[in-house]
Amino acid sequence: MIVKVIRNARIFTPEGSTPSSGAASGHVRFLPGGGMLIKDGLLEAVGPEEEILSSPLAARADEEIDCGGRCVIPGFVDPHTHMCFAARREGEFSLRLAGTSYLDILKSGGGILSSVDAVRASSDEELFASTAALALSALSFGTTTVEMKSGYGLDTGTELRMLSVIRRVGRETPLDVVPTFMGAHAIPREYAGRGDDFVDLLVTEMLGAVKEQGIALFCDVFCETGVFSIEQTRRILLKAKEMGFGLKVHADEVHDTGGAALAAELGAVSAEHLLAASDQGIAALAASGTVAILLPATAWSLRKPFARARYMIDQGVPVALATDCNPGSSFTESMPYVFGLAVLGMGLTVEEALVASTKNSACGIGRGDLCGTLERGKQADFLVLDGETPAILAYHGGVSPVEEVYKKGELVA
Ligand code: NIG
Ligand code: FE
Repeated sequence: MIVKVIRNARIFTPEGSTPSSGAASGHVRFLPGGGMLIKDGLLEAVGPEEEILSSPLAARADEEIDCGGRCVIPGFVDPHTHMCFAARREGEFSLRLAGTSYLDILKSGGGILSSVDAVRASSDEELFASTAALALSALSFGTTTVEMKSGYGLDTGTELRMLSVIRRVGRETPLDVVPTFMGAHAIPREYAGRGDDFVDLLVTEMLGAVKEQGIALFCDVFCETGVFSIEQTRRILLKAKEMGFGLKVHADEVHDTGGAALAAELGAVSAEHLLAASDQGIAALAASGTVAILLPATAWSLRKPFARARYMIDQGVPVALATDCNPGSSFTESMPYVFGLAVLGMGLTVEEALVASTKNSACGIGRGDLCGTLERGKQADFLVLDGETPAILAYHGGVSPVEEVYKKGELVA
């Protein structure tokens, strides 16, 4: 048994294991002179330092860590990434700056399809090396749990290869990695003009192959004009649900196609993006309790208005934050950057952004009982910040105030 004591910390943490919404969206517990007791990587107690230090277990601690009065928060949970890719797309970024739209780049065979070419041409070792490097960089910015989607393979073999690389990153880095199957990310070149045939392949072959290997927890679909229609999305997700996958939807990112309402209707754990979501779509998410995973770095990079986060919170939708880390629409692995955009660009309070990037984001990938808050029984995943409050994440723009990263009680970055 390994026991550690954390002391002299200004602890800020959301509470509970289910998504916060409405007036509770910014509920955060603050312990000005806080301490934590960790037993074998799990939190045994979190409270005022005197209480922690006087417990019998603290007396036999193997290690005592003094945080020097700095701010301590839960490790970030990044619940939406496409971090498993083989090559950057810097040239495409310049095209976008010059005025070509994201969907036009995809339509002309670039965008996601150029990432598919690169992943198909890469070896397992190359794909692992680039994915693990990004994951470790994310860790240094405070991400202790990350979701990663496949979707740059778009044939059965390459999708399975991506998912096995994603799982390997979970085994060989300190991060917890949650894999999502996203074979429905684009229509591959060999199916151009035959989208329904590709959907047939997804439901008759790919989903079954992924299920058989047990290597993905969720299934996600890019429901968008010119990509997967609402009917095609429904067909794929109904099959995935029947097979026992949790559901996620890239919904209403560029156009409102009713993706948010579909996510709510099918009981998806999350609807993601939502830049163009309608009032009805947002009302449906509020009624079903589906987590809205918002990606302000994507809106910023696409130079589009941010998702209507304040309206969503006011309507009772649980809101979470993610990087969307990918080589096209949002190339960042930094949750502090996303936190700053959420506060300064989307109008979230610091407390709401903290809940959205820790507990609600954990709930958005089905991990609310394991991480996302600093409470007894959860993993001791926490960050020590160079600041007095979590406001430092938005206040100190363009740099990371994350000084120490602990995963299951171990200093990992
Ligand atoms: O979430 N919208 C679809 N997928 C990603 C982008 C992937 C890419 O451009 O490579 C997104 O923005
Ligand atoms: Fe995405």
